[in-house]
Amino acid sequence: MDKDDPVFPQFPAGFRFGTSTAAYQIEGAATEDGKGPSIWDTFSHQPGRIANGDTGDVACDHYHRWPEDVALMKELGAEGYRFSISWPRVLPTGKGEVNRAGLDFYDRLVDSLLEAGVKPMVTLYHWDLPQALQEDGGWLNRDTIEHFASYADIVGRRLADRVEHWIPVNEPNVVTMLGHAIGTHAPGRALLFDALWVAHHLLVGHGRAAIALREAGATSVGCANNHAPIWPASDSDADVGAAKLFDALWNGTFIEAMLLGRYPADLAPILEDLVEPGDMATIRQPLDFYGVNYYNPLKVAAAPEDAAMPFEMLDLLGYPTTDFGWPIVPTALREWLIMFRARYRAALPPIMITEAGCSYDDGPDADGVVDDQRRIDYLDAHLRAVATAIERGVDVRGFYTWSLMDNFEWAEGFKQRFGLVHVDYDTQVRTPKKSFRWYADMIAAQPSAN
Ligand code: NOJ
Repeated sequence: MDKDDPVFPQFPAGFRFGTSTAAYQIEGAATEDGKGPSIWDTFSHQPGRIANGDTGDVACDHYHRWPEDVALMKELGAEGYRFSISWPRVLPTGKGEVNRAGLDFYDRLVDSLLEAGVKPMVTLYHWDLPQALQEDGGWLNRDTIEHFASYADIVGRRLADRVEHWIPVNEPNVVTMLGHAIGTHAPGRALLFDALWVAHHLLVGHGRAAIALREAGATSVGCANNHAPIWPASDSDADVGAAKLFDALWNGTFIEAMLLGRYPADLAPILEDLVEPGDMATIRQPLDFYGVNYYNPLKVAAAPEDAAMPFEMLDLLGYPTTDFGWPIVPTALREWLIMFRARYRAALPPIMITEAGCSYDDGPDADGVVDDQRRIDYLDAHLRAVATAIERGVDVRGFYTWSLMDNFEWAEGFKQRFGLVHVDYDTQVRTPKKSFRWYADMIAAQPSAN
């Protein structure tokens, strides 16, 4: 930061600040009030799957402590909150009879957020597929699309009058790759390229759910796609080729299907075998916003010829890292946004950063203060990257940081802490970190806030 830079990054009037979470990562109450099991309940209980044997059985106990969490959001002053609905809490087996208590929980949460001046952004699928649907093949089975559309219809009819923004599927690329290609996430399948069935079904599910939500009265439907700039490990033809293929897999498949209604040329030979008539038009629903979850660039090299996949991920050296070991490269976010706009132009709706954040292990000191200056620096740098992209003409309308509070970080369990609020998992005491105060001050300092 230059000495002439304003103390806080500056955004145009109306820019939306928010925080984000997901059901399995915060709710707990895994078997309460009629909730059915999800694939993450099953997976997290399998020995060796999750660091330290952690599970989301209790997590942040948000299912019981939500009034306290809403009060924290009110104190923060961020106008947006992105959370997800647990499909098996609403439909314990994924289809059929609705569990009234489950739907009522989200209804109360939405009302209470609105009373606190916080506008809900709701994700329908943040990875907790009902276990009963998994027994029938899960996302490998095309029938799951139908069940997902019915679930979207049920939730939409109940909440669309009060929810500001909707996201059918969170990070379909991560579900495909980590859940089904390499198996480090639920349901733990290692199908390599055959996992692309899952990508296609999630994408058609996205389209079908978007249609159902709109029919139920939703006025803003978008997506939350994880995007990472893919950097080749060297300029050798092999590394550049591997990076290009991986880029198509990680980024292109999802962007191009949603915005252009086609698959990238590199993967079309595999993906087009799965497409049924009408699918690509279903996927390409008009979007009210394009949600981007950004964390860091990935360095990709060609793998040895006998490897299962033709590419491999290397550490991106030469940058500072978070406690997760992820490189911190805010300029890559700025460049990616600018490139994204240049490439998709008229096809691109306004962008929302639906996630960005960092894991640091800071806890309360003797005075109970959590001094996470490194998170403040991270957020400051990434917000400035977004502000610069806006100045260069990219239409970015919001930034929802991951996460409101420390939570269950999937295969990493509770070890990785992404929150503005520290959670003591033994006592469930919430302690706003220094970054919480900084985010609040940054929001209050925006010209539009005065
Ligand atoms: C993306 C996912 O949507 C979220 O669930 C996860 O906790 C963060 N990234 C951090 O890894």
